[in-house]
Amino acid sequence: MAIISSKSQPPDRESSRAKLPAEPATQSAQLSLATGSLPIDEALLKPDATLDETGKQEEKIRPQRLREYVGQKSLKEVLDIAIRAAQSRQEVLDHLLLYGPPGLGKTTMALILAAEMGVNCKITTAPALERPRDIAGLLVSLQHGDILFIDEIHRLPRVTEEILYPAMEDFRLDITIGKGQNAKTRSLPLQRFTLVGATTRVGALTSPLRDRFGLVQRLRFYELDELSQIVLRTAAILSTPITETGAAEIARRARGTPRIANRLLRRVRDYVEVKATGTEITETLAAEALELFNVDPCGLDWTDRRLLTIMIENFAGRPVGLDTLAAATGEDAQTIEEVYEPYLLQIGYLQRTPRGRVATPAAWKHLGYQPPESQLALL
Ligand SMILES: Nc1ncnc2c1ncn2[C@@H]1O[C@H](COP(=O)(O)OP(=O)(O)OP(=O)(O)O)[C@@H](O)[C@H]1O
Ligand SMILES: [Mg+2]
Repeated sequence: MAIISSKSQPPDRESSRAKLPAEPATQSAQLSLATGSLPIDEALLKPDATLDETGKQEEKIRPQRLREYVGQKSLKEVLDIAIRAAQSRQEVLDHLLLYGPPGLGKTTMALILAAEMGVNCKITTAPALERPRDIAGLLVSLQHGDILFIDEIHRLPRVTEEILYPAMEDFRLDITIGKGQNAKTRSLPLQRFTLVGATTRVGALTSPLRDRFGLVQRLRFYELDELSQIVLRTAAILSTPITETGAAEIARRARGTPRIANRLLRRVRDYVEVKATGTEITETLAAEALELFNVDPCGLDWTDRRLLTIMIENFAGRPVGLDTLAAATGEDAQTIEEVYEPYLLQIGYLQRTPRGRVATPAAWKHLGYQPPESQLALL
């Protein structure tokens, strides 16, 4: 089943790569789900898409090539060099680990790499690789140069991880047949491939796995002008008229994250279509709509504000442990850590101290509280 696109693979990609060593290949990447039997959670592949229609839209607005990928300048430079070097030597790209908070463009970048290299990209997610045969099936199906994208790679089961070591290093699949005394290990050669791993928690990777990636790159939150550009680009694809200041208003509330920027744009578009038919999205309309959807001028949503409010009201500025915070808010500790905290840390509303999390004076003020003396020491 093709998830993202099912354009057929050009028949002669090896020779086209050889002819055009320094130029990005012109073919689109062919994207396919690995083996039919893999229990792949499609929701993970399009996290903000609940409907098929939304999923299709999501794919329409995903940048396809490096030049369309806004921001992440140093990441693009590093990858551009890696692509050109691999192409000129007619080699396969080095294994790449991408890490950073959700929605910053890790999956998008893996797909772009495949398109630039003119190879297939097979997409899976670590929890789907439960049994050795899941990963073995995928590995043997790869053609020379293909990209294997494993999302949430910090969640790989141990057995799968151990199969990946020789596969990544020596392009060899070691399989054990039989059990106990009769067990035999067989080695199968694999085609050279590129593993692209994505994770929101690089610290949770084992070091043998992390060390096998030739490139380890972090994705950063986007600047306002970059997010504005993304909003303008998406609006153009969706044929939604918008002013530059309208785009900037959405960008300001998008928590440095393209996925959120695109999602907010869709909400604002709905609002404008219903409330002010026929007009373009302006700064005022965008602000009005986003207030209605509970997204404040800093991009904080209901959960962010609740986290901070509980820290302020229940703990009066004292450090709070993650588990205590999770219990007090009813949110899952891992979700707080991976989804909410990174942005609050980035904008300076939260600090991590050895004794726990603290809401900063800026957060107190943003939520309309007067920070106590003890908090002002943090200023
Ligand atoms: N640099 C970018 N330029 C333009 N749009 C982008 C960029 N990065 C991401 N997007 C948009 O944001 C959406 C989310 O990106 P993507 O799915 O790649 O994030 P992710 O890092 O893989 O998230 P997750 O960790 O949740 O899997 C994409 O559909 C794409 O449209
Ligand atoms: Mg992703």
